[in-house]
Amino acid sequence: MTVLEDSPFVRACRGLPGSHTPVWFMRQAGRSLPEYRKIRAGVGMLESCRRPELVTEITLQPVRRHDVDAAILFSDIVVPVAAAGIDLDIVAGTGPVVAEPIRTAGDLERLRPITPEDVGFVAESVRLLVAELGATPLIGFAGAPFTLASYLIEGGPSRTYLKTKAMMYGQPELWNALLTRLSEITLTFLRTQVDAGVSAVQLFDSWAGALSEADYRQHVMPHSAAVLRGLLDAGVPRIHFGVGTAVLLEAMGEAGADVVGVDWRTPLDVATKRIGPDRSVQGNLDPAILFAGWETVERETRRVLAQGASAPGHIFNLGHGVMPETDPEILTRLVALVHEISSR
Ligand code: CP3
Repeated sequence: MTVLEDSPFVRACRGLPGSHTPVWFMRQAGRSLPEYRKIRAGVGMLESCRRPELVTEITLQPVRRHDVDAAILFSDIVVPVAAAGIDLDIVAGTGPVVAEPIRTAGDLERLRPITPEDVGFVAESVRLLVAELGATPLIGFAGAPFTLASYLIEGGPSRTYLKTKAMMYGQPELWNALLTRLSEITLTFLRTQVDAGVSAVQLFDSWAGALSEADYRQHVMPHSAAVLRGLLDAGVPRIHFGVGTAVLLEAMGEAGADVVGVDWRTPLDVATKRIGPDRSVQGNLDPAILFAGWETVERETRRVLAQGASAPGHIFNLGHGVMPETDPEILTRLVALVHEISSR
């Protein structure tokens, strides 16, 4: 294990002071970069996640260009689910699409447990990256059981999560069996990344904001907590993120996170009061602000930094992923601005 404890990013995750507020962006690798669009031309998304040299190049592109304080492994939340035997594709402009959704106990048999060898290409990618990145930490990640279950049950993206919630409320045994299996797959996927050398992990429960706090605590939190608890002895900071999670922030911290990711709807000082003094926060500039002109970007960045200062540690990020239409030069300027304002 090679956690880069002295990096501003890991120090902020641990609530320790650093030379400046670290900054990285969810979806920093991807369609906002012309060099990404070029190298991905003609290669499917899942296929590109399975080629370690390609993963390495795509992961490094935003680090070279923007001077961010952390890299995030280029992969996708459905990669371990595909390795577990589920027939799925990642469709451009749509997202993951599952050929035969999971709706019954019989369907669950198609979701096998995974071994580290099933995702050996991920371990290989991490090893190549850690060697290239030097002092810049690499963040590993996985989808949380609820968000993964939503794709498996719905068969693709959803606005209402109708079938997902119908199973959660109506078939609790099947629901718990599915989320237990997903938490085991997720833990194996994350442990593989940790063993190969990532310095932190982020658990994406992107769509958990569809739930009330009571339902989250009853039906979802135990499964996410099993994943985060399973990493306790790994020694890496654990980031837990979702969108629209204002009412869940406290529970998401309690689930076992060192850092709670916050979207743009909740100011970071308010979020910190909910989460408590023992955890750092990550976020939370609205990705749409980057389309509003530099003066606005600068003003809002100062606000986010000021509000983030009330937490024990703050990692600057957007409130969700970089939009594909974003001008990459704005992102480069934003990194420099965060470094300049926060340098101490
Ligand atoms: O730079 C990074 O952040 C690392 C790479 C990364 C990807 N997916 C690459 C990707 C990460 C961290 C993810 C996680 C992911 N994937 C999440 C959680 C994060 C979030 O956004 O809340 C979710 C919900 C998914 C599922 C998924 N995969 C979606 C919704 C999409 C977008 C569909 C589209 O085309 O708009 C994908 C595809 C995907 N994953 C792309 C990338 C770069 C786009 C594929 C392409 O370039 O064609």
